[in-house]
Amino acid sequence: MSTNESSPVQAGRSGASASRAVQKASRARSDLRRVAVVTGAAAGLGNGIARRLASDGMALVLSDIDGDKLASARRTLEADGHAVETFQGDVASREDQQALVARAVEAFGRLDVFVNNAGIEQVKPLDDIAPEDLERIFRINVFGMLYGMQAAAARMRIQDDGIGKIINACSIAGHESYEMLGSYCATKHAVRSLTQTAAKEYARDGITVNAYCPGVAGTSMWTRIDQAMGHYMGTKPGEAFEKFSAGILLGRTQEPEDVGNLVSFLASTDSDYITGQSIITDGGMVFR
Ligand SMILES: NC(=O)c1ccc[n+]([C@@H]2O[C@H](COP(=O)([O-])OP(=O)(O)OC[C@H]3O[C@@H](n4cnc5c(N)ncnc54)[C@H](O)[C@@H]3O)[C@@H](O)[C@H]2O)c1
Repeated sequence: MSTNESSPVQAGRSGASASRAVQKASRARSDLRRVAVVTGAAAGLGNGIARRLASDGMALVLSDIDGDKLASARRTLEADGHAVETFQGDVASREDQQALVARAVEAFGRLDVFVNNAGIEQVKPLDDIAPEDLERIFRINVFGMLYGMQAAAARMRIQDDGIGKIINACSIAGHESYEMLGSYCATKHAVRSLTQTAAKEYARDGITVNAYCPGVAGTSMWTRIDQAMGHYMGTKPGEAFEKFSAGILLGRTQEPEDVGNLVSFLASTDSDYITGQSIITDGGMVFR
């Protein structure tokens, strides 16, 4: 076959049905500064992700519900010479998520990467979970993530250069469910599900959607989980954290930098051919 003849497979995907992702990737301009939004970026894993994407050369919009921590995170990044904007908002508010994307475009002119990182935990035996508990955790971890994807995709699909990257915070708890963490695990399974659906719906717009699934990181989230497990199971401070992480094959708990490494890859052009995946980074705990 000559080089300008296409195979049946290529022919089937050519013309009007050619992937918009391929077209957008080929138009990616290296002279543009890429712009990333990270929610829940004032502390913990989100802050580690923001620091990594900033050192990768992206302009950053940090979003968080906690205004004081947000201001402090901004000062730290600016002191290191990074281009940073902030937005104080609640991911559970659809209007806030839309305003967050508008802020990114207003500040830096475009949006390339949207990291739906903000999330909360909940420790309760199934029999104690009340309707308001479920509403609270689903509003932040699931509704908030979906609103973030909707707002990001609305902007990314009108940009015609470079693939848009939506990256969601899932967890090993999105692959495996744990006792006392039933509602949390249910939200993270929902994140994995919505990541797949979004990948299927947004590919035609030149947007990839993936998730990162951390294991056990000693952020303030785990301090609260450890305390709550102590309340229900009579464990001493630090004991639940130790028990949970005892079997990690690589012999240590997770650092924000470990998560930053994976998100940096998912935000880069090196992952342009990956979509719909929820990738585990846990030092060897859960195998899928
Ligand atoms: N820490 C872990 O071991 C672990 C493991 C797997 C997955 N995760 C996931 O990673 C993400 C970050 O976890 P973390 O450990 O850094 O949590 P964290 O509690 O230490 O930090 C979360 C940040 O999100 C912000 N936030 C909380 N609710 C918000 C809201 N409604 N709107 C905007 N911002 C909000 C908080 O102010 C805080 O700055 C979460 O989605 C979590 O479920 C964490």
